[in-house]
Amino acid sequence: MVEIEQAAIPAHVAIIMDGNGRWAQRRSLPRVMGHRKGVAALKTAVRFAKRRGIKTLTVYAFSTENWARPAEEVQFLMNLMHETFFKEIDELEKEGVKVVLVGDRGSLSAGVQQLWERAEARTAGNSALTLNVAFNYGSRTEIVTAARRLAAKAAAGELDPEAIDDALFAQHLYTSHCPDPDLLIRTGGELRLSNFLLWQSAYTEIYVTETLWPDFGEEEFEAALKAYAGRERRFGRVPQKGSEG
Ligand code: IPE
Ligand code: IPE
Ligand code: MG
Repeated sequence: MVEIEQAAIPAHVAIIMDGNGRWAQRRSLPRVMGHRKGVAALKTAVRFAKRRGIKTLTVYAFSTENWARPAEEVQFLMNLMHETFFKEIDELEKEGVKVVLVGDRGSLSAGVQQLWERAEARTAGNSALTLNVAFNYGSRTEIVTAARRLAAKAAAGELDPEAIDDALFAQHLYTSHCPDPDLLIRTGGELRLSNFLLWQSAYTEIYVTETLWPDFGEEEFEAALKAYAGRERRFGRVPQKGSEG
């Protein structure tokens, strides 16, 4: 295998972990078994990201729209997230991983909020990898919340509306602590963003694979990195000399 140069490794990778339900259905198992299997795939991805020198990994685990699923599935996902981070936090702390919950925490249970406050406080000083867990996350809510906070500051006379620019706006998003994603991976084959990182993905390279999330392993992650390394990021400019044709 040809090693990808470190310079071509994305600093921030975001993943839409999709396809758990289909994975289970294909095996005639209840959908929730796919979610359980998905946790194992997440652990593999976190370890791999750290080893490959990726600095930030943002994973979409529960969207603001996922509340519309059957109540038992929603409850299962709430419990699974709680159980997973309760169990894994010691290991994550030891591995130098900083964990951050990105999403609307206000409407999560008091128990979940407390778990995350503790997990974040315990790992705040870590720097090997930042793991953003997008749970109860929706880009539109995130953007509206940022707009509301800025408007409140302006109304209070603390902020001149003319001072609002891209950078200031980004500082009011859940992801203010990290750069925009370089690479966005979606498993399960759907060609859409499903309300994930709409602002932050303005110039992100997108990689979609048919592989269902529970089957997403190191080789597949490496294939995504390889595809990324071959992309030319232009940010609206003309191609670099020597890269045409
Ligand atoms: C993604 O898998 C996990 C969550 C949305 C929580 P799905 O549950 O959406 O799986 P599919 O897309 O139905 O296969
Ligand atoms: C996106 O997957 C959300 C997560 C992976 C957590 P969905 O399965 O909810 O997305 P849609 O409904 O196919 O767009
Ligand atoms: Mg899905």
